[in-house]
Amino acid sequence: MRGESLRTKIRELKREKGALILVHNYQSPEIQEIADFLGDSLDLSRKARDAKAQLICFCGVKFMAESAKILSPEKTILLPRKEALCQMAAMVSLPELRGLKASHPQAVVVSYVNTTAEVKAESDVCCTSANAVKVVQNLKEDEVIFVPDRNLASWVARFTSKHIIPWNGYCYVHERFTAEEVKEAKRLHPQAVVIVHPECRPEVVDLADRVESTGGMVRLARELSAEEFIIGTEEGLIARLRRENPGKRFYSAGPARMCRSMKYTRLEDVYLSLKEEKFKVELPQTIIEGARKALDRMLKYG
Ligand code: 13P
Ligand code: SF4
Repeated sequence: MRGESLRTKIRELKREKGALILVHNYQSPEIQEIADFLGDSLDLSRKARDAKAQLICFCGVKFMAESAKILSPEKTILLPRKEALCQMAAMVSLPELRGLKASHPQAVVVSYVNTTAEVKAESDVCCTSANAVKVVQNLKEDEVIFVPDRNLASWVARFTSKHIIPWNGYCYVHERFTAEEVKEAKRLHPQAVVIVHPECRPEVVDLADRVESTGGMVRLARELSAEEFIIGTEEGLIARLRRENPGKRFYSAGPARMCRSMKYTRLEDVYLSLKEEKFKVELPQTIIEGARKALDRMLKYG
């Protein structure tokens, strides 16, 4: 089936089944275009929770669809591609996390939403890149185990005197941006505002004017009067910025960087997902209950 007829079929299925399509900012433009709502991890979690629709097709990676299921267990949450996994989420092992907790009994466990549901259930509170600083500042405990992103942990540590114990995880997409690349981009575009994601290395963050979640980048690009921006994140977001701000120019902070898992989802997959109601996110009740507490606490703080 060709693009236009797939889009028509998707619209028909959506109407017929009362479904909602949630799409992350890193998805390819053809998927972004069919979104009922396009956003960052925090925006999408809230949308999934508040949606009236009982059927949600989540175009993103597995941890995002799982978060939607945890927040709305009564809804059917579909992930169009089973293999769409976040590589950083796979970096936490439960036995090791339990070991770390045992050696720091006073510490509170803050897990980035880029984790499995099992890790969330083992955590006290979750955060996203949009609210990590606020979540940690709101904790009464002074010791924080922060999983899995060492770079986000280092960003948060700049705003608190709490003792942060970082997990040694990272995002392979964001870690590839180097300080040299950012310096070169700044040399080529000296007027540009530099905005990077907090998953970037600390030396890259040091060169930025602003550090934002993907949703924060969308808002800033719209609001600032600057005409040029250097962006340190995945290329799907940069495509969105260009589409929504035709009078402004956006440059990647280095060569365009792609998250492979985010690009698995094609129109055909969304069509089949809605038609056959696959792949349903299923989680054990105990995991849902444990992870729900951590996600609810996050939504309360941030
Ligand atoms: P955002 O919540 O900023 O969209 O980030 C999600 C993510 O996976 C970044 O790599
Ligand atoms: Fe995970 Fe990195 Fe892809 Fe985000 S960009 S989903 S953190 S691998």
